[in-house]
Amino acid sequence: MSSAEENWHSPIQARRELSSEPAIEVKSVGKKFRMANDRRTNVKEALVRRGGRGPKHRDFWAVDDVSLTVPKGSTYGLIGHNGSGKSTLLKTIAGIHLPTNGEIVAHGRVSALLEVGAGFHPELSGRENIYLNGAILGMTRKQIDAAMDEIIEFSGLEDFIDTPVKVYSSGMYVRLGFAIAVNLDPEILIVDEIVAVGDEEFQRRCMDHLHDLRDRGTTIVVVSHSLAMIQRLCDRVAWLDHGHLVAEGPADEVCEAYLASVNAAEEKQLTESAHKDTAVEGEEREGTGAVRVTDVVTVDDDGEPRSLATNGKPITIQVHYDVHEPVTDPIVFLDFWSELGLHLAGPNSWLGGLQLGEVSGPGVVEVRIPALPFLPGVYSISAAVASSTLEVVYDRTPKSYRMRVRPSGKYEPDGLMTLEGEWSTRPDVPAVPAADRLPAAAGTGATAAGAGTPAEVPAAAGSSSAQGGVA
Ligand SMILES: Nc1ncnc2c1ncn2[C@@H]1O[C@H](COP(=O)(O)OP(=O)(O)O)[C@@H](O)[C@H]1O
Ligand SMILES: [Mg+2]
Repeated sequence: MSSAEENWHSPIQARRELSSEPAIEVKSVGKKFRMANDRRTNVKEALVRRGGRGPKHRDFWAVDDVSLTVPKGSTYGLIGHNGSGKSTLLKTIAGIHLPTNGEIVAHGRVSALLEVGAGFHPELSGRENIYLNGAILGMTRKQIDAAMDEIIEFSGLEDFIDTPVKVYSSGMYVRLGFAIAVNLDPEILIVDEIVAVGDEEFQRRCMDHLHDLRDRGTTIVVVSHSLAMIQRLCDRVAWLDHGHLVAEGPADEVCEAYLASVNAAEEKQLTESAHKDTAVEGEEREGTGAVRVTDVVTVDDDGEPRSLATNGKPITIQVHYDVHEPVTDPIVFLDFWSELGLHLAGPNSWLGGLQLGEVSGPGVVEVRIPALPFLPGVYSISAAVASSTLEVVYDRTPKSYRMRVRPSGKYEPDGLMTLEGEWSTRPDVPAVPAADRLPAAAGTGATAAGAGTPAEVPAAAGSSSAQGGVA
């Protein structure tokens, strides 16, 4: 996961009724590449090769026996890790690659926006390339002329449109490519990762345009790193892994399964490296040492160690300690820090109502947080143990324990925390009018209603118990 941890808050679109007519049929498609085998890993191998007996090539299946159907008018996403075969499958659908096995049937005019510069002739100007692309799409000169102004305007390349595209920057290629692909009225549009290029304003226009095309019934096949974008835009999704189709189905289901798998892999990797991360000894620590914190561990409700906590979900943090000189009623502290070093929270066992009594030997105390408010990110934790009167600090660790928080479904993306408040309207509460309000005559009467005559509160009008007693 990257880029602002993928804005997961985006409202997941309602499912649409999809046509049972196919736009694209991918039938048992395989694409094999022949790779030169010149990687000599050791001397012996090199010698063997020199004798000409080693294989010069090895075959590599970038897409392996994939079958799927893209319904007419649907927006269809391809997801999967880097190198999983998404671009290869797109190129095969676009007719740039011939499949080694199987067959692709496209029912409609395909326009593809693949890697930067693909489909352009470098010596031709932007305008000439528009004609070229239109012709490839089977459009007449008249049809292309009709779209020309819109394409140039959308691309924002008015000043460069008669310059050979070989001098364009990659951002300019993408602008022109997108402008052509979406404005030449394709029946099937194929888009690979482009939305990540270009400035934010352009990206937003691209997204708006994709949404428009989608609403107009264009079939779209799209690859993106942004799961949030895929979920927002797509009806169905196919998940590829090492060229194989792992899952295919409604966008939210497949994206969730994919995310779960990515998280599980990350979790495994983190758990394996966790203890290197939390090596506390050697760093500066305070305290008399009567009690020592020996570890801080995040665990789930089953007591299983978890390197990844989940926003909005329960998490338990255990403080492991060892007592060198018995003490009575020590207080255990935990402190949570943002990546920028902001002190976010500092719960302690005394405020939490836990009395430890006399402690000796090793032990564990834990605090369970029912719904972790921290937004996705990495947090530091430090722990401390002090005497019941706070006069003596027995131990205070550096901020060397890490907690990674991952997203779960929707969350409020801004700031550091989720508050998960309950929103409702209050027609019964008179609104405070603006201080500089114009005389009543100027208004449409909208504000008058609220003032003296509280509307009746419908039974379901929310006004939850949290705000009870107001009316
Ligand atoms: N023209 C090619 N020749 C040889 N190998 C290729 C070629 N194109 C892609 N590959 C390989 O095929 C695999 C899938 O690549 P690609 O389809 O680009 O994956 P993705 O788009 O999912 O990142 C990768 O291992 C890549 O190196
Ligand atoms: Mg790719």
